Amino acid sequence: MTATVISATTVGVEARLVHVEVDTDRKLPSFTLVGLPDSAVRESRERVMAAIRNAGFQWPRRRVTVNLAPADLRKEGSAFDLAIAIGVLVAAEQIRAPTLQDFALLGELSLDGSLRPVRGLLPMATGLGEHDVYAIIVPRQNAREAAMAGGPVIYPVATLAEAVEILEGGVRIRPCVVDAGQALQAEAGSDGYDFADVRGQEHAKRALEVAAAGGHNAVLVGPPGSGKTMLARRLPSILSPPTVAEALAVTRIHSVAGLLRPGQALITRRPFRAPHHTISDAGLIGGGRVPRPGEVSLAHHGVLFLDELPEFHRRVVEALRQPLEESRVTIARAAATLSFPSRFMLVASMNPCPCGYLGHSRQQCICPPQVIERYRARLSGPLLDRIDLHVSVPAIGFDELQLGPPGESSSAVRIRVSGARQRQLQRFAHEGDPDLLCNAHMDGRHVRRYCHPLPPKAGQLLRTALDRLGLSARAHDRILKVALTIADLANADTIDDSHVAEAVQYRGLDRPVLT
Ligand SMILES: Nc1ncnc2c1ncn2[C@@H]1O[C@H](COP(=O)(O)OP(=O)(O)OP(=O)(O)O)[C@@H](O)[C@H]1O
Ligand SMILES: [Mg+2]
Repeated sequence: MTATVISATTVGVEARLVHVEVDTDRKLPSFTLVGLPDSAVRESRERVMAAIRNAGFQWPRRRVTVNLAPADLRKEGSAFDLAIAIGVLVAAEQIRAPTLQDFALLGELSLDGSLRPVRGLLPMATGLGEHDVYAIIVPRQNAREAAMAGGPVIYPVATLAEAVEILEGGVRIRPCVVDAGQALQAEAGSDGYDFADVRGQEHAKRALEVAAAGGHNAVLVGPPGSGKTMLARRLPSILSPPTVAEALAVTRIHSVAGLLRPGQALITRRPFRAPHHTISDAGLIGGGRVPRPGEVSLAHHGVLFLDELPEFHRRVVEALRQPLEESRVTIARAAATLSFPSRFMLVASMNPCPCGYLGHSRQQCICPPQVIERYRARLSGPLLDRIDLHVSVPAIGFDELQLGPPGESSSAVRIRVSGARQRQLQRFAHEGDPDLLCNAHMDGRHVRRYCHPLPPKAGQLLRTALDRLGLSARAHDRILKVALTIADLANADTIDDSHVAEAVQYRGLDRPVLT
């Protein structure tokens, strides 16, 4: 007898349908698994045999052949266990499953016949829905996650026996239904980091508000202990909350990475990823034998924070080029090329010089200018080119720390940021470009279209700034983009000189080093 069971696997964050074909015949008992299985899949033989026995069935005294199709797709992980077990039981005529073709089966089996959660359930459920699969039987711990796909009927089961019961027509187990929009509302909220905790630093907070409003990348420059890490950690609290589509996209990536907490169905906040400077390029970009998303993808729709940027390995920083330009990373494999989305706001921090005290009000910097130039040159080129805001974070005095009033709360800032974002969405709506959602995404063409012509006073100011401060040409478009965001925050329809003046302040690293 032969049985075919529908299952799935992931390639990147996309799902691929897998047909598990099981054939049994009366030759000498044996078990063969074909179709490019990796070691975890090959080990499913042991798990499936024990689970079938412990669920009260018999392992057939026949030759069993399992084929995972299509054969050219590498199969990894343990999610095929349930499909293999059911295929064996049907092919051996131990159970009758008249509606088997309506179901997809996913889950890892324990030796005792219970079902364990697997990675990538949300993308798999989404993909199966697109293939018109009517229902999916999934491990109970994955059920809410799978139901977020909003497509197929999701049946949560705890054991192989329960899966059999559903397939034989039992109606005891009810499908799992969730609404992603409601889940987002219910679970949204603060992670406890608030701008109100930061005393003083009004300039830096304003700069981060501008960054959040326009989606601009930023680098925080200041001496040790001035609060750079503290400020960056609070950036997500002023970003506009994720939409349902964004939350689902973030959840898909975390699901594939195996980073959802047990029972967690949806990631409801924008990610904040802060990898250590010892990270490898594979860790940052993604990769591995079974490719997993890297930090740039885990930060999708959120913030990637590179604390102490000059400490990162040059190769790692260079690797940021593709995700920054294309909002996606490609990982080449022997068999196939896959890609992960990676649209994030980059925030970096650094000291102004190697000793850290350049420009400090009370401490003397001991670095010669050439040393400072070399230190800054470490992040030259592609990276600095993509950073719109250079934010200086000076050391603040005791009085300001102790006696200053508490800062404005993040929720108040977030209202202004969301308003500015709304203006940008309207501005770019007719462009019909899904990659152009905020001012930071504009290219040179868009800058000419939306930032020109400048009123005479603003134009004059920009010319003077470029000449007198010795700002580089690359600063020109960046200043205009940021000025447009500042105008958006002010609800102004055109860029005026005050917007340009503020934007010019955020180009500190383009100026020659003065000691
Ligand atoms: N403006 C501030 N308001 C309140 N607390 C502050 C402020 N600035 C710094 N602190 C306190 O000082 C600590 C150190 O700040 P933080 O770690 O953010 O500095 P840093 O600039 O990242 O320093 P480093 O360069 O050494 O990493 C914070 O945890 C916080 O307790
Ligand atoms: Mg720090």
